[in-house]
Amino acid sequence: MSDNSIGEKLRVTLFGQSHGPAIGCVIEGFPAGFAVDWDRVRAFMARRAPGQNAWSTPRREADSPEILSGLNAQGLTSGAPIAAMIRNTNAHSRDYESLRPTPRPGHADLGAFYKYGTHWDIRGGGPFSGRLTAPLCFAGALALQWLEKPDGHGASPVRIAAHITRIGSVRDAVPNVTHPALPLYAPGDFPVIDPSRGEEMKREIEAARRDGDSVDGEVRCIAAGLRPGLGGPYFGGLEGKLSQALFAIPAVKGVTFGDTQPRGSENNDAFCIDDALPGGIGAATNHCGGILGGISIGTPLYFTLSFKPTPSIALPQQTVNLDSRTETALTIEGRHDPCVVPRAVPVVEAVTALTLMDAMLMNGR
Ligand SMILES: Cc1cc2nc3c(=O)[nH]c(=O)nc-3n(C[C@H](O)[C@H](O)[C@H](O)COP(=O)(O)O)c2cc1C
Repeated sequence: MSDNSIGEKLRVTLFGQSHGPAIGCVIEGFPAGFAVDWDRVRAFMARRAPGQNAWSTPRREADSPEILSGLNAQGLTSGAPIAAMIRNTNAHSRDYESLRPTPRPGHADLGAFYKYGTHWDIRGGGPFSGRLTAPLCFAGALALQWLEKPDGHGASPVRIAAHITRIGSVRDAVPNVTHPALPLYAPGDFPVIDPSRGEEMKREIEAARRDGDSVDGEVRCIAAGLRPGLGGPYFGGLEGKLSQALFAIPAVKGVTFGDTQPRGSENNDAFCIDDALPGGIGAATNHCGGILGGISIGTPLYFTLSFKPTPSIALPQQTVNLDSRTETALTIEGRHDPCVVPRAVPVVEAVTALTLMDAMLMNGR
């Protein structure tokens, strides 16, 4: 496993840095003959793109992917690696060079210094930047479309949707996920179940921004329609595969599958016959989150991800000077998201789609 690649049959490799000429990805193993809906790919990527609202960094990027390979003359996937490039057009690199001797608390700088010395590209967080989630969304947008289309091999359509469940101290109502239908949440760039809680969450982000601070939050993701039997015991477990991929998303600090209850009698999901589910067997509750023994059981798969507050804040902080080995004060400039959660929602959907598509290809669908 290399630092920039994920997946076995469907393998995605990311490249680029936040303030280099371009970022992008190479997707290997995508089946041949698939007609990608490029308008939907662009619409999906726009949900992650920065500079569109008050809770996002003011850095404006079109995030327009250029496809370099992997399509045939008819515009269908050819089976060859799909390479896509997104040019960086709005980088302000002068904000960063002075940061090198003084690692930003909470950001990747200190770890990067220990691993790469002074050689890594610190501009905009370089290879650790949230910007690398743009090509991840490109790859995920293709996987989401593939998962939606049964292709004559008996695979049922899989639909994936994530929504914001908490920002700071404001929690959304969270419905029980037993039925194959996805929860109805307010669509758009701030998906929540209860729009009034959504407004409170936006105020929480705005308050953090006004204070020169940032705020944490949680995202719940649901995959409905996934066929039973994907995954395996121990190291082949679906929870493990998803977790490894999800922890690649910058600022993710935790993942919980299902919603474990305190007592076995409450936590065990009573099985029932449910012809609406891919396996025909459902559960009266779905506390297991659709996975038992590391293997999907056909009930909706769901998990909750916790995100830490954005590390770059305007308030003064204490750090150390790596040259003089002294403690020093640090004030960060530049443009930052006061909360990464809203922009991370499509990234969570993308990573989930890529992992589940890989699991389906591994299991021969
Ligand atoms: C969509 C997205 C946008 C982000 N934007 C910023 C940002 O503007 N400023 C910042 O300091 N961190 C931002 N981050 C988080 C950092 O990239 C991340 O905290 C950092 O790389 C350290 O990694 P870690 O938090 O996983 O340890 C963003 C993360 C995501 C997913």
